[in-house]
Amino acid sequence: MTGLLEPRAIGAALERIDGPAKVTGTAPYAFEHPVTDPTYLHPVQATIARGRITAVDTGPAEALDGVLAVITHENAPRLAAGQDAELAVLQSDEVAFRGQFVGAVVAETPEIARHAASLVAVSYDKQPHDVELHWDRDDLYVPDQVNPGYPTDTAQGDVGAALAEAGVTVDETYTTAWYHNNPMEPHTTVARWDTATHRDGADGLTLYDSTQGVHSVRSAVAPVLGLEEDRIRVIAPHVGGGFGSKGTAHAHVVLAAMAARVVTGRSVKFALTRQQMFSLVGYRTPTIQRVRLAANGEGRLSAISMDVVEQTSRIKEFAEQTAVPARMMYAAPNRSTTHRLAALDVPVPSWMRAPGECPGMFGPEVAMDELAVACGLDPIELRIRNEPEVDPESGRPFSSRNLVACLREGARRFGWLDRDPTPAARRNGGWLVGTGVASSTYPTYRMPGSVATIRFGLGGRYQVQIGAADLGTGTWTALTQIAADALDVGAERIELQIGDTALPKASVAGGSSGITSWGSTIVDAVRVFRDKFGNDPVEGDEADAATPENPDSDRFAMHAFGAQFAEVRVHEDTGEVRVPRLLGVFAVGRVINERTARSQFLGGMTMGLSMALHEQSVLDQRFGHVVNHDFAEYHIATNADVGTIEAHWIDEHDPYLNPMGSKGIGEIGIVGTAAAVVNAAHHATGIRVRDLPVTLDKLLR
Ligand code: MOS
Repeated sequence: MTGLLEPRAIGAALERIDGPAKVTGTAPYAFEHPVTDPTYLHPVQATIARGRITAVDTGPAEALDGVLAVITHENAPRLAAGQDAELAVLQSDEVAFRGQFVGAVVAETPEIARHAASLVAVSYDKQPHDVELHWDRDDLYVPDQVNPGYPTDTAQGDVGAALAEAGVTVDETYTTAWYHNNPMEPHTTVARWDTATHRDGADGLTLYDSTQGVHSVRSAVAPVLGLEEDRIRVIAPHVGGGFGSKGTAHAHVVLAAMAARVVTGRSVKFALTRQQMFSLVGYRTPTIQRVRLAANGEGRLSAISMDVVEQTSRIKEFAEQTAVPARMMYAAPNRSTTHRLAALDVPVPSWMRAPGECPGMFGPEVAMDELAVACGLDPIELRIRNEPEVDPESGRPFSSRNLVACLREGARRFGWLDRDPTPAARRNGGWLVGTGVASSTYPTYRMPGSVATIRFGLGGRYQVQIGAADLGTGTWTALTQIAADALDVGAERIELQIGDTALPKASVAGGSSGITSWGSTIVDAVRVFRDKFGNDPVEGDEADAATPENPDSDRFAMHAFGAQFAEVRVHEDTGEVRVPRLLGVFAVGRVINERTARSQFLGGMTMGLSMALHEQSVLDQRFGHVVNHDFAEYHIATNADVGTIEAHWIDEHDPYLNPMGSKGIGEIGIVGTAAAVVNAAHHATGIRVRDLPVTLDKLLR
């Protein structure tokens, strides 16, 4: 049942439109676009975490046959001053973190470039670095706001008094590790600088980039390079994952563009190695979370408080919104949240799948489990008792909130109802067995500023143009379905065009806002098209529309919800952890494509499992770098790490979101999984792990 011929295609399990091209190897990823005269870039990276470059010897590298250019801060083209320090590539002799670019070689082959880069000798005046995140640092500071624009701190009522008077309290500190996004396709930019051949004869830059947003890359690099936007074209039809690390342009894009200018007329191909990705393309900041809950004996919360300490880099602030979900999740009259940052000599942190919600639901969802144990209450019942009537933060009603329905449906499907809450009470052949639950949530965003064009073309097909990105999530397919539904034609009559700045402008694939934003825009463009041309257009008829504003967005709090269940087995003698079952139930409005939606949920849950059990970027504080910077030592969950994994959703009708009735689904799957695993491990063993990952040493008595 592909739904391919269904006239109204929303909801159908349409097979991926890009699937055949991908499995036959013909879908071009950034590195694979055929270019004439390719050259290859290999960077030189700083080997100190803080200091100054005192000398660079490029002689031996330049002397190699096949080397076209060696670029350092001494000869690099000047970039526009005052820009984003992460993007100010090779503009000074200062080193702000280990692994930062200090040079680049462009050569005729990748092997020559790599060898030559190893011959560039950089001397440093090394200064003491500081890369250690601690709760009690005396230089923690208060950022002006946290991402993507929330207040840093919030307070209502009197948390201290509520804690002092409460019958039951939890006051614990939880930590999440450094995580690296690690998409399958490495960050890649192919850059070409043409003189007088591009556009209307002016000089211009073409970038084949692995990105979550062609227009956002263009608008980030244009001012840095001192170019008008219309002199840059960014192309990205297919992307092999990003998880946020391709949501903003990082330094490698600028470096490739700079190199292309140095070897004008040649194409510069730059694919980062896996190891380089551990210092250059962002990561999720580690977090330290103090969570305090106060409740009466029936488990009704009187206070929720969350204080977060996290890191940013010295050259650029990134303030993860870790405590933001605690502001809206449960009812309590007294509440407070704070964020404090340490600016360290570390690589620049950035977006990673469910920034804020993913780390920020870990501490609170484990704390809720601790409270349930303290109150002698079922953890699902505890959550139901603290379900808010309206958003506790803003006082607005939720456009829809079906957390309770997800908890109940999950409990039914998982077989929760006959659960004995006693910890460490079930054994099976040397294994202690437990089950755990945690809530998920993610906001529903609609980004402004996209434009979609509908054009009636040859063969009765509708061209739908929007510069959106498909980072592997299913955008090609879902937008085709939305357009088919809006036009009331079969999906086979839609010719979608995305992934190119030559197309109408589109917002970034971030914040799970792609389909909600671009879909709303396409539906509006169809409305304009039908108003103008009716149902019998002629070839060449064309209409466009910009993303409409949502009049309901100020009236309602809009969030997706979910409930995640885990079964965990811990070996009595060795502490080994196994996860035989994961099950999630989500409430995400209308599902556009059940096939691609399921893979988003399962992917998110797998990444959450990975966070629970394996993932951790280990810093060597002596040198300031991540030592396990490859897939041999940075472990990511695979099929063997879980028995069965299931994702379900409930029927949710929310008329306030957008014309499709959909909420974003790319990120919610990772939210809550780690807490569910930790809670199940406690149920299995009686041991409460508060610091991720849940490695076996933490479960030995
Ligand atoms: Mo997502 S981390 O907002 O690209």
